[in-house]
Amino acid sequence: MTTMTTTTKTATTVLDASGVTMRFGGLTAVRNVDLTVNAGEIVGLIGPNGAGKTTFFNCLTGLYVPTEGKVSYKGTVLPPKPHLVTQAGIARTFQNIRLFANMTVLENVLVGRHTRTKEGLWSALLRLPGFTKAENASRERAMELLEFIGLADKADHLARNLPYGDQRKLEIARALASDPGLLLLDEPTAGMNPQETRVTEELIFAIRDQGIAVLVIEHDMRFIFNLCDRVAVLVQGEKLVEGTSDVVQSDERVVAAYLGTPFEGAPGAEEVAEVEAAEAGATKTAGSSADTTSTEEEDTR
Ligand SMILES: Nc1ncnc2c1ncn2[C@@H]1O[C@H](COP(=O)(O)OP(=O)(O)OP(=O)(O)O)[C@@H](O)[C@H]1O
Ligand SMILES: [Mg+2]
Repeated sequence: MTTMTTTTKTATTVLDASGVTMRFGGLTAVRNVDLTVNAGEIVGLIGPNGAGKTTFFNCLTGLYVPTEGKVSYKGTVLPPKPHLVTQAGIARTFQNIRLFANMTVLENVLVGRHTRTKEGLWSALLRLPGFTKAENASRERAMELLEFIGLADKADHLARNLPYGDQRKLEIARALASDPGLLLLDEPTAGMNPQETRVTEELIFAIRDQGIAVLVIEHDMRFIFNLCDRVAVLVQGEKLVEGTSDVVQSDERVVAAYLGTPFEGAPGAEEVAEVEAAEAGATKTAGSSADTTSTEEEDTR
């Protein structure tokens, strides 16, 4: 496979992952991947199932220690520890929603806020004035985020009672609560209907407009190509192509990676047309017999 290892770096590079490789025993899930995200950008990461997209996110966020490679955020190499990565300024959502099901919507956002509150355990237990003040400020910020995400009226609902689309939005609010400079979204519209997907698209633009860079994994190509300034394609752990939506959409290797390359001896255009014509004829016949059946049914009523 011809891989592209170049990547677009600028003076305002927020995320700089270079040569990231992740092996699990004999399986190389991510191989020598370079990727940057610059300030003000929305970057897409696409690829077939099992391509290594989530594994790559896990390497960026300290859930996995990459076998090789380096991940920097705003010029500083990140320690491979999730809480330190969050503290540094990277927040994420998960492909499989991870909310506290029995907590309220507001409490879930407050959990995301804790990396930014300085008050310690004793302060919380003794409810010292500093703690109460910090707690009020956190609640205020959490409510602001719920307004922004469109869930303020459900602040007191239990997370488990939210419809699926709202749970995905709540995950985004929780991630934003840590005041990130970079937000990683792993399939934010999975399971959403087209209208919810459009709302999420607008939401991600609004997040970007607030100065947060975004790296997003999705299988919905229309969503990705509408949204992203740049798209990288992972196939079997390797970065195959990277570029603007137009460049990536028209790259034959990307089409082949998704649809598969035609196998030797595959039917040519003429044979395909013949089969289609035969199928169309068969459908017509089946259609007329179905009509007959329904008429018969009406007759018998
Ligand atoms: N912890 C792990 N241990 C062993 N293998 C793993 C582990 N995590 C992921 N893999 C393997 O790594 C490969 C890439 O998986 P990954 O989940 O990153 O793909 P993906 O691109 O996110 O796919 P999808 O679009 O289905 O979410 C797969 O073959 C998967 O089975
Ligand atoms: Mg995945």
